Amino acid sequence: MPATTTPATTAVLYCRDPLNERRVDAHFAAEARQVREGGGTVLLLDHDALLAGDAERAVARVPAGSGAVWYRGWMIPSGRYAELDRALRRRGGELVVTPQAYRRAHELPGWYEAFAGLTPVSGWLPARPGQSPEPARLTALAADLPPGPAVVKDYVKSRKHEWDEACYVPDLADSAALHRVVSRFVELQDEFLAGGVVLRAFESFVAPEAAAAEVRVWWRDGVPRLVTAHPDSPVAEAGAPELEPVRAAVEALGCPFVTTDLALRADGAWRVVEVGDGQVSDLHREADRAVFAALLTTGQAPLPPGASLTHLVQHRA
Ligand SMILES: Nc1ncnc2c1ncn2[C@@H]1O[C@H](COP(=O)(O)OP(=O)(O)OP(=O)(O)O)[C@@H](O)[C@H]1O
Ligand SMILES: [Mg+2]
Repeated sequence: MPATTTPATTAVLYCRDPLNERRVDAHFAAEARQVREGGGTVLLLDHDALLAGDAERAVARVPAGSGAVWYRGWMIPSGRYAELDRALRRRGGELVVTPQAYRRAHELPGWYEAFAGLTPVSGWLPARPGQSPEPARLTALAADLPPGPAVVKDYVKSRKHEWDEACYVPDLADSAALHRVVSRFVELQDEFLAGGVVLRAFESFVAPEAAAAEVRVWWRDGVPRLVTAHPDSPVAEAGAPELEPVRAAVEALGCPFVTTDLALRADGAWRVVEVGDGQVSDLHREADRAVFAALLTTGQAPLPPGASLTHLVQHRA
């Protein structure tokens, strides 16, 4: 059997503080400290330069020959992520999560098929920033969804804080209202519109008592390693979703580090609201940074087959 080469330490490329090129961005500083304490190496990325199209400058502080590195920080558009990988490769490095895997986990059309049946029925149309799809194409897209209300987003994000104006469609049969909400969504997303427009059948979710409305599950190599409240939740308590059906979907997706956001539907079914690449998923402010850092620095050993959330919690203790 060929020997496997495991890098001596895990290296994580963090966004740097925009005002101080030697420091990790304040939002990720506590986490990066735990990566270092866990024996990992912290490298710095200029996220602004990367998004401006200057990948070379973005990685100027990454030493040559870094080998495979994780990224951890603010979201990166999939095309820019591929540019980051190319820039690292020119200096003897690469991203652990390939650009293909990143796009698959980060954008709804990439993960949707693996999660069909666990997530609201969805359809999408590619669109460029500032260009809302034609009304006739939107009406045709809506016709493929179950009748009733829907939610609008792009391949990555919604405008959930502008719910009535740019997110919620009360009735897909009302083509004029559908076009109005989608157009407003496209207008507000402006240059940040990612990929295109997604329509999702609306489902009624309920928050479990005294717990977060959404539970974010962090998966390393297909194993649920950490369960937190969604970062927007005012409470840190997370419910206990049934994870076995989700595990199969995460395995089918085949990405090394992903998050799934789960919500309890009014009929008692746990549903996947959203999938994300774990590298760019935000962490609830009360989540344990040391436990999180260990996901990256010691994430290999899988839990026993059939491990449940109970095992997971015991494992963390
Ligand atoms: N199909 C749906 N049915 C009902 N509610 C939905 C649906 N899709 C989204 N929502 C609601 O809208 C919110 C935002 O949706 P979603 O998580 O897909 O977008 P986002 O902008 O990427 O959010 P995040 O802040 O998690 O990154 C969800 O947390 C949920 O409350
Ligand atoms: Mg979400």
